[in-house]
Amino acid sequence: MSDITITRLNEEAVTDAHWRAYFAMFEELRRRYGAISLLADWQHLKRRVMVRAKEDPLHRCSVFCENGRPTGWIELAVRWGGGPESPSSVSYDVSHAEAPQWYISAAGAELARMLTEQGKRRAHCMTQSNRMSDVARAWGGDELNGIDRYRLYRDRVDETVIDRWLAEGTSRNPDLRLQFFSRVPEEHINRYCELYVRFIAEMPTDHDDGLPVTFNRDDLGQRESLNRKQNAQLYTCALVDNDGVMVGYSNAYISVDCPRDVFQALTGVIGEYRGRGAAKWLKAALYRKVCEDFPGMETMYTDMRAVNEPIQVVNRQMGYVLENQGHEFLIERTAVERAVELSDGSGPEQR
Ligand SMILES: CC(C)(COP(=O)(O)OP(=O)(O)OC[C@H]1O[C@@H](n2cnc3c(N)ncnc32)[C@H](O)[C@@H]1OP(=O)(O)O)[C@@H](O)C(=O)NCCC(=O)NCCS
Repeated sequence: MSDITITRLNEEAVTDAHWRAYFAMFEELRRRYGAISLLADWQHLKRRVMVRAKEDPLHRCSVFCENGRPTGWIELAVRWGGGPESPSSVSYDVSHAEAPQWYISAAGAELARMLTEQGKRRAHCMTQSNRMSDVARAWGGDELNGIDRYRLYRDRVDETVIDRWLAEGTSRNPDLRLQFFSRVPEEHINRYCELYVRFIAEMPTDHDDGLPVTFNRDDLGQRESLNRKQNAQLYTCALVDNDGVMVGYSNAYISVDCPRDVFQALTGVIGEYRGRGAAKWLKAALYRKVCEDFPGMETMYTDMRAVNEPIQVVNRQMGYVLENQGHEFLIERTAVERAVELSDGSGPEQR
């Protein structure tokens, strides 16, 4: 029988020896299961958690040790773009090929406790793997969309495809031009927020989550401020028309202290300009800009709904390969409470 302890990073003093051990856990998860980690070293992990805890009132993070060694974690944070009624965003993992029962019970109890503390009814979750989808199912989570995780290896990219997309983008869209920024300039803020809401609403879905989507200049300001404090960059490549109005954009999130893996985030083009290679143009230009500014970048990765055929097509043509499959879930606090009550109930000791 394992001895399980829990450390609540927002509530307890944590020594550097613990941070080192936590960093080792994230590295192990990355090596063994291809989990994403944007961390350079243990100091970086410590800084990111501390900044997040200070800047995000919804931030909570707990680590689980099994016989004295950290093997699992769970983190709740704000979910951007949903207004005050938005569920919290939860992520978690455990270093086992199949999540053990102790983890399902202990992390489930933590999830319920954190949601109660936040006054939230439910959490939204995007799992990175089938392993973690099974945990959300055990917590009674409602399954929304299948999520495919794709990866682009820089040393295998066919640069002639990128060159072609850049050339075709210009020739097929003479009325548009590219604009790049690492912080959304004042003249584009309102339009950027409007397009963000529109693109999210227009994404093909298997199962509409019914969640409101809102995004305004305050949300953008908070997100950009958090990025700056975490030494991260959200690069944007935008397309603007002859009147200077933005008609599409593509984002890349870069952890500057560890740019090894870069997250290709949202790409969107308004309806009137679709089917003319605009998304390919944006993604090619953004990729080249990231390569230029971050020679240490090795891969780009991206998550997309399994049913989103247009972006699946674009990514596969660019050279992205399917790496993992996960799921989007909504997890009700009452469901997870019930699930935990039904399990053996032998919760962990707090450290
Ligand atoms: C996804 C999106 C950005 C594509 O923009 P776009 O400018 O039309 O894309 P492009 O013209 O560069 O390329 C689209 C490719 O997908 C193909 N395609 C489009 N719809 C398709 C479908 N339903 N099935 C299969 N292929 C499809 C097109 O034929 C084209 O490929 P081709 O050039 O080889 O013919 C746009 O549809 C969009 O903004 N959607 C809403 C937001 C979204 O879902 N974003 C992606 C998630 S991050």
